[in-house]
Amino acid sequence: MRTLAVLLMICASLAPALGQSLQSGAAPGIEVYDPQDGFSTASVAGDFLYMSSVPSSANQAVDTAVPEIMNFFNTTLTSLGASLENVVKVTVYLRDIGDFTTINSAYTPYFPEGPPVRSTIQAANPGSSPVAMDLVAYLPNGATASS
Ligand SMILES: *[C@@H]1O[C@H](CO)[C@@H](O)[C@H](O)[C@H]1NC(C)=O
Repeated sequence: MRTLAVLLMICASLAPALGQSLQSGAAPGIEVYDPQDGFSTASVAGDFLYMSSVPSSANQAVDTAVPEIMNFFNTTLTSLGASLENVVKVTVYLRDIGDFTTINSAYTPYFPEGPPVRSTIQAANPGSSPVAMDLVAYLPNGATASS
């Protein structure tokens, strides 16, 4: 749950910060830097948003981990005038590749109009997260979107 709390804090700070950065027009390579982790949690290049991998909270079932991450993505995208429909690429990091079928059942309902390109790999995610995901999304309102 600590991971989730941290995620929610990042989420709460990410979207407004990103909106502000976008409004500043400081393209290209607009970034939301996370000094604690030493990398950016989001970057914008042109009309595309790149998000760093988002881990679920620790030691939970894959089918509940997926909504947790998707809700985070959805909140962030919505705040930028985009939606899950604008996602063009997802990478899924599964602790156990044996969960591939399970994750598909939880994942596909989020993309009823046709899922984005996706790569799925097995990875020893930090913090005992069963699944983490990152994405690339098109921002239909461009880099001037605001929340
Ligand atoms: C995404 O967020 C919007 C705005 O809060 C909400 O209306 C929509 O139902 C959410 N979509 C999903 C798939 O959760």
